[in-house]
Amino acid sequence: MQQATDQNWWKEGIVYQIYPRSFQDTTGNGVGDLQGVIRRLDYIKSLGVDIIWLNPVYVSPNDDNGYDIADYRNIMPEFGTMTDFEELLTGMKQRGLKLVMDLVVNHTSDEHAWFEASRASRDNPYRDYYHWWPAEKGTPPKRWSYFDVDGNAWKYDETTDAYYLHYFSVKQPDLNWENPKVRKEIHDIMKFWFDKGVDGFRMDVISFISKDTDFPELPQKYGGDFVSFYSDGPKLHDYLHELHTEVLGKYDVMTVGEAPGIGLDKALDFVDAERKELNMFFHFDLMALDREENEVFLMRKDSWKLPEFKKIHSEWDQVFARKGWGSIYLNNHDFPRSVSRWGNDSVVNWYNSATMLQTFLLTMRGTPYFYYGEEIGMTNIKFDSIADYQDINTVNRYKIVQNEGGDLAAFIENEKAASRDNARTPMQWDESTNAGFSLERPWLQVNENYKEGINVADQEEDHNSVLNYFRKMIAIRKAHPVLIHGSYRLLQENHEHIYAYTRTLDEHLFLILLSFSNNRSSITLNELDFEEAKLVISNDVEAEKHQGKSFELAPYQACVYRLL
Ligand code: NOJ
Repeated sequence: MQQATDQNWWKEGIVYQIYPRSFQDTTGNGVGDLQGVIRRLDYIKSLGVDIIWLNPVYVSPNDDNGYDIADYRNIMPEFGTMTDFEELLTGMKQRGLKLVMDLVVNHTSDEHAWFEASRASRDNPYRDYYHWWPAEKGTPPKRWSYFDVDGNAWKYDETTDAYYLHYFSVKQPDLNWENPKVRKEIHDIMKFWFDKGVDGFRMDVISFISKDTDFPELPQKYGGDFVSFYSDGPKLHDYLHELHTEVLGKYDVMTVGEAPGIGLDKALDFVDAERKELNMFFHFDLMALDREENEVFLMRKDSWKLPEFKKIHSEWDQVFARKGWGSIYLNNHDFPRSVSRWGNDSVVNWYNSATMLQTFLLTMRGTPYFYYGEEIGMTNIKFDSIADYQDINTVNRYKIVQNEGGDLAAFIENEKAASRDNARTPMQWDESTNAGFSLERPWLQVNENYKEGINVADQEEDHNSVLNYFRKMIAIRKAHPVLIHGSYRLLQENHEHIYAYTRTLDEHLFLILLSFSNNRSSITLNELDFEEAKLVISNDVEAEKHQGKSFELAPYQACVYRLL
């Protein structure tokens, strides 16, 4: 039987996510590209990470920056060619790096040949590749859409007098997984990339692929919670198991499913190895912590509390304590920068916050996922004009508020904290024009704080930079398997300022102390024995401030102790 402590490259590996549009432009069009990633491979390797997850690079009209795919087997011309892709893969393999691609198969672009055929007539062979509701049946039952200006997931299409389903934008029609031909197409796409040498997939909104094709009214138990309803489709696990049987089981690859709507109770259905489905998935409990209930894009009015943060991570750790495996992340291309969101990006607290959060990810059980720029502490850009935003999500929700005569100033305030564009600003490489990202005007504005030390070149020079702390902390995780596989125990769950936990494996015992406070704070840990305690790392110069069992921490200080 598979054990949680079994070794595996994707359990021990550290993931570095790259949003290619924003990483490095080499052609001078203001958009990052594959040659840009190739140029930076030595840098990525130098971080100590093992796996690169690349956001979609396939042909796409970019209604949703590549999450609307028009051709699954070719590279978006803005990003380069298949030859560039192959060069990237070779360069990665030479450096011992693995590549995980994004698999977006809940929907395609409306410019995909399948959809163009599907919408042309009611009796064409591709009709059933998508979900259609003939208009003679009346208006289809309400389905909510993420990026639609009317919030409606059904779009009427005159050509065939029918509505098609799109959980995301009108240009992202949902595929019909009920159709075995669709599933076979998807299996073939996955094989195509695996045969090229790709090492895995991050699977976009994989929890949404199965729909009840009778399209009943939303069952009462879900209230307005569309996300839970979407994620609970009747054949979801049949499809995932089939993916495993037909494709995944034949390769040594990793899978991580994006799983909005999946809670603790359903987690093992996806990642219990014996069920032969996925390796890991991303839950959204943390991402919902600072949002209003069932309102993933709306910041909550009061602030989130540290005991809530601890509870989420402790409960998820418990789920995978014996079976399955977790993934752990604080930000990605859909959520704001971690230091601005979970720490404090003010000048005085930025350094400790960024490094404390790195310490957290690298001392928890589960595979840690870092997002480009997190290693140098990149922050939210907080645009204050709608004209600066590019993201379809912000732009279309602005239109909704405008159409409803709502409070646009309040909307922009919300987006300063919530917009996905906060996370998508160009990588800050150095102090040259546009932070060394591009010589031309970048597709999204660069954060000006690249001139204030938040850039790779400056941080390379400073032994104590956020960047070099990241490297040290990675080396520590790798040197101590207890930090990867060890069991986790939360201490003082109700402490409002300090997150304290231990990790234990065989005779090894580590203690991690993390301050999430703007003020000095203290904690007394009578339950532990500090006779042999050694400080392994701290992000604060005042590192060792403990007297017996009492510790005093500076704002956002992190300390890792080895007790045994
Ligand atoms: C989740 C992706 O992470 C997000 O960026 C995208 O907009 C939606 N899925 C739709 O594909």
